[in-house]
Amino acid sequence: MKESNYISIAEALKMGATSVNLRGWVYRERKSNKFVFIVLRDETDIIQCVVAKSKNLEIFEKAEKLTIESSIKISGELKEDERAPTGYEISVSDLEVIQIADPFPITEHQSPELLYDNRHLWIRSRRLNAVLKIRHTIVGAIHKFFRNNDYYEFDAPIFQPSQSEGGATLFEVKYFTDKMYLSQTWQLYAEAGIFSLGKIYNMGPTFRAEKSKTSRHLSEFWMAEMEAAWMKLDEVTEVAKDEIRFILQEVLENNKKELEILERDIKLLEGYVEAEYPTIKYAEALDILNNKYQMNVPWGKDLRTNEEAKIADHFKVPVVVTHYPTEIMGFYKPPSEENPKEALCFDMLAPEGYCEIIGGSERSLSVEDMSNRLKADGEDPNNYKWYFELRNYGSVPHSGYGLGVERVVSWICGLDNIKDAIPFPRTMLRKAP
Ligand code: 4AD
Ligand code: MG
Repeated sequence: MKESNYISIAEALKMGATSVNLRGWVYRERKSNKFVFIVLRDETDIIQCVVAKSKNLEIFEKAEKLTIESSIKISGELKEDERAPTGYEISVSDLEVIQIADPFPITEHQSPELLYDNRHLWIRSRRLNAVLKIRHTIVGAIHKFFRNNDYYEFDAPIFQPSQSEGGATLFEVKYFTDKMYLSQTWQLYAEAGIFSLGKIYNMGPTFRAEKSKTSRHLSEFWMAEMEAAWMKLDEVTEVAKDEIRFILQEVLENNKKELEILERDIKLLEGYVEAEYPTIKYAEALDILNNKYQMNVPWGKDLRTNEEAKIADHFKVPVVVTHYPTEIMGFYKPPSEENPKEALCFDMLAPEGYCEIIGGSERSLSVEDMSNRLKADGEDPNNYKWYFELRNYGSVPHSGYGLGVERVVSWICGLDNIKDAIPFPRTMLRKAP
């Protein structure tokens, strides 16, 4: 039979009672003296198939040999059956075995480490299939959001000669006879790009040698960043809120089925689309933490995970926190004029314990201030000559931010660990497969 005569399981389920040709993999199988029950899986869904011994002995004997993940083609009659997992059942009239799978190493109730060791096989699971589909929607939504709003896509090098987000998390790589670093952010190059293109965005792989073994850090992750000329802090925080609402909307429009598979609270996500997201200052955040929750965070300390979680929990929606202490912020985050101890920067914190999903700021226009702060960090400002030159050729206020794609995928999917938000995770302890 021609390959074009096969349809997907999702298409078959839509057609209802009819004869169909399907191909896929054995998701589950169960045998009795008279029947073989196969749950067939493809990229779209699962469906129960029944092979009756009384109908055709040859097919029944072939079906008896099937193992989990064997690849097969079947033809048969589709009919409604409320006992079947997706409401339909196929009475099989023909079966072609493509490959009998070896005993599948993943069975029920496996340890997380075994699942990560077998990641190349585990991405077939219904759960990861659902996450990957939602990730696909999120990535598409990010491109759509910026393109709809007249941002140009702009690319920066991955090999970079200097750090931008602190030396502690730099990945050094041999570069011919020299050394270079893997990109920690697209930002510095974007700050050059805006003088040509005005409003730009990008999404790409980002590298940080994170020594923390948390459920929120990867050493290779995808960051979606934007940068815009003329934009100030009050405007850029609104762009971030709009982007998050748009992403949520797109997922709700396209992935209800996947959210159900993940047992995600859809009503809660719908609420996030409608809600206003508050913007508060770091000082107000401390006020809430210390006076409402007796947490005792001194001014000047960065917010830790549990403190971020408390703030987002307090509002129950994504929250933008601005004006963190200048001293603990990156060299490019400018001190505010009114109070130089506070920087013109922001983080967006997601509720339900997911914490920081976006970080951004206005960009410093003072070469002197940036040089001093780099020196204080042990950096040589001479390595930033080209970047500082941007302040000498028609410098204008500008702002931008970066969104952690896997952080957003984790939150929207309700995942326990960020490692499940990317097909093949990389952390300090996980580098294979
Ligand atoms: O807050 P970060 O470090 O900001 C920057 O790198 C800026 N240069 C971005 C910009 O303004 N263009 O990182 C941005 C976001 C974080 O809010 C977080 O969501 C994500 O990137 N992120 C990580 N995600 C997973 N694993 C890690 N190790 C991450 N580090 C940051
Ligand atoms: Mg940050």
